[in-house]
Amino acid sequence: MMKIPFNKIPISGNELNNIRLAMESGYLQGGGAFMKVCEEKILAATSAKAALLTTSCTSAQDISAILCDIKPGDEVIIPSYTFVSTVNSFALRGAKPVFCDVKPETLNIDESKIEELITPRTKAISPVHYAGVGCEMDAICEIARKNNLRVIEDAAQGFMAYYKNRHLGTIGDLGSLSFHSTKNVIAGECGALLVNDPELIERANIVREKGTNRIQFVQGKIDKYTWVDYGSSYIPSEIISAFLAAQLEIAKDLTDKRVEAWNYYYAQLKDLDANGKFALAKVPEYCRHNAHIFFLDAFTPERKSALEKHLKERGISAMSHYAPLHSCPMAKKLGCSDVSLPVAERMAATMLRLPIFSAITRQEQDYVCEALRDFFDKQ
Ligand SMILES: Cc1ncc(COP(=O)(O)O)c(C=O)c1O
Repeated sequence: MMKIPFNKIPISGNELNNIRLAMESGYLQGGGAFMKVCEEKILAATSAKAALLTTSCTSAQDISAILCDIKPGDEVIIPSYTFVSTVNSFALRGAKPVFCDVKPETLNIDESKIEELITPRTKAISPVHYAGVGCEMDAICEIARKNNLRVIEDAAQGFMAYYKNRHLGTIGDLGSLSFHSTKNVIAGECGALLVNDPELIERANIVREKGTNRIQFVQGKIDKYTWVDYGSSYIPSEIISAFLAAQLEIAKDLTDKRVEAWNYYYAQLKDLDANGKFALAKVPEYCRHNAHIFFLDAFTPERKSALEKHLKERGISAMSHYAPLHSCPMAKKLGCSDVSLPVAERMAATMLRLPIFSAITRQEQDYVCEALRDFFDKQ
């Protein structure tokens, strides 16, 4: 029996050498040479107005919430079907999350349901580009423009992915990327803030540096730095940046390999989708995704659980996620759980993610596809 893990972290081979160079340089805090290399590479890949490396995508979202002056009483519209970081950054500022449903084909926010959620207190929309497939950003940005709202993109899963040739996270006012170990390009725990509104760049640097104007001190513009704004410890150490710099060298290769693997699964499984055995994601042709996730919708929770078990018995690790945020204990505490979001609720119980990583082999993928056929032939 083969054993197929859900994920295998990619290693370029240069990570240790970079970390040694960082150690030899004697400079290990944030703002070193490797951090600059990473930011230049992220800028080149995304064409954002500014890219600030951060300790995580969560930190980048915290910075975004501060930059948008989110405060108690404000409302922020986010999809319920997402990771907790999307909501916490706003909840931490005292804002009320307003949860929106998602679409079954992409698990992205349903843009047709956003306008009905807008009230005089709405301050921002935070779309999440699930699986590195772009949300309908033209429609979302138009709603935001008409209602004078900020757009804060959660592009945690979206590095090297594009919507109509624009990198995810560079279409709204601010966007955030994740380089967490579970992502396509990694540094353990790391992220980046993409700033697209030029007026926010200076303040973003201050907030990242614990609310100080240290960057001006480093640039020789002032002789002492001081507390000037809100902020926290959001800048990554040079060791993390050194690791990430090695990964960014191979980011295109890692993405190409994942996309190849994603396309292979799709080609092997599309007849089962067409025959109504399950539903695969439907990626709009103007979205160049990064193959972060390959999921199928098994239609009922019972079939999903039986399939998960069937795959496990064959050594295949498949996973599902997220508990819709409006159904979580914290949503009850914050008084924002009293909504019915049928797609998020159903998909959380019926979707299953297949193993996908840059080094997955054809043989491994064939084995997964055979196990799926085996299961669905009997359905
Ligand atoms: C949609 C989404 N948002 C935010 C995050 C948080 O990223 P990080 O772990 O880098 O803070 C993740 C990570 O899993 C994510 O998938």
